[in-house]
Amino acid sequence: MRRELTVRGTRDFYPDSYDRIRFLFESWRKTARSYGFEEIEAPMIETLELYRIKSGDEIVGQLYHFTDKGGRELALRPELTPTVARMIAAVQNQIAKPIKWFSIPRCMRYEKPQKGRLREFFQLNVDVVGEDSETADLEVIGVAIDSLIDLGLTEKDFVVKINNRDFVSEYFRHEGIDPAIEHGLFKVIDNAPKAPPEATEDALRKLPLSEEQRGGIESYLRLATAEDLRSLDFESAGRDSLSRLFGLLDTAGFGPYCSFDPSVVRGLDYYTGTVFEIFDRSERMRAICGGGRYNHLLREFSGQDLPACGFGMGDVVLSEILQDRGLFPPYSPPLDYYLVRISGEQLPLLLKTARVLRRRGLRVEYSYGEQNVKKQMARASKLGASKVLIFGEDEIARGRLVEKDLATGEEREVSFPRS
Ligand code: HAM
Repeated sequence: MRRELTVRGTRDFYPDSYDRIRFLFESWRKTARSYGFEEIEAPMIETLELYRIKSGDEIVGQLYHFTDKGGRELALRPELTPTVARMIAAVQNQIAKPIKWFSIPRCMRYEKPQKGRLREFFQLNVDVVGEDSETADLEVIGVAIDSLIDLGLTEKDFVVKINNRDFVSEYFRHEGIDPAIEHGLFKVIDNAPKAPPEATEDALRKLPLSEEQRGGIESYLRLATAEDLRSLDFESAGRDSLSRLFGLLDTAGFGPYCSFDPSVVRGLDYYTGTVFEIFDRSERMRAICGGGRYNHLLREFSGQDLPACGFGMGDVVLSEILQDRGLFPPYSPPLDYYLVRISGEQLPLLLKTARVLRRRGLRVEYSYGEQNVKKQMARASKLGASKVLIFGEDEIARGRLVEKDLATGEEREVSFPRS
């Protein structure tokens, strides 16, 4: 096939790879529902304006956008959070809070395709809206952790790195850093773990910072544990919130999966307090998941502040990890019965029987063309059928069929299945 017919950074899902993605979706759904989240879906296309509101330059720069035949500027969704904000703004006075929604959107970002990053991917997206407490943050982080545990991963495989944007701002203000450069500074910090140290030093030098302030940022980046936070000698509401969150995470049994990390500030502009990212402990790949609190995004849509917290967990990095660890179940095409006929004469009875079994919810196949019995049996094995039903002349005359269990090779006579 000509290569250019496939869009770069997209994937075709053949039956076996689609089976793996379905396995992932089923596990995600099960966990989100176990926390009481309700599932939503929304359009793949949105107005370009929706993303200009507050996602930040990085995401806007990665948008697939176009002008439609009616002259409207539209974009393919790169994430679901602005859509969730738009949907909530439309109904927020009619529904009880907190609103707990999840979805599994297909998203598009014009990024450089690389290991763990594509242009088209799926996300588990989970949000709690209308609640501004660390308990809501705990629930959101809990769904993320339990999703990974349900897939077979353990605390040895992944870590949730947590920080609080208010704390970071308060720290920098304490160092006398101008709040006007905070946005740029957050970008440098967000990039620091992915960039060589010289690049981070260079980027810091480009910001209007004194030698002392640069030293303050370096000390900040050296903070390593929740104890380090406690020892800081200034008042910080963000730090207190972090401490409460770590306390709750410990109490709920999530402590071993979580740690404080000063470099987590998140690249999207709408985040406010708690922020977190989940990584494979080997740190060889990009984040499995990212999220946090966005208390002011809803105001952009409805004029009213409504606190919110959530995350997006992508399928690409996660699938690579599950594949690596052998955690995907082996693919077996689903088939309960393969119906085998000795000759064309048995076809009418076979068709009726197939229908009866299928209406019982069983998965049934048979050969469409005339084939000898050996070929039909070979096809049944190839398809992984559990059982074969043989339509033989003599047995049919006695009102019977032969059922063969392909796993054990056992054969027995059975009566015609009737509806
Ligand atoms: P994000 O950090 O941009 O956050 O994306 C979340 C996750 O989606 C990433 O950790 C990664 O697993 C996956 N992801 C992002 N871009 C790509 C890509 N190009 N290829 C493969 N996977 C990718 C958000 O999207 C926020 N809207 C999450 C959120 C929900 N915050 C609050 N609620």
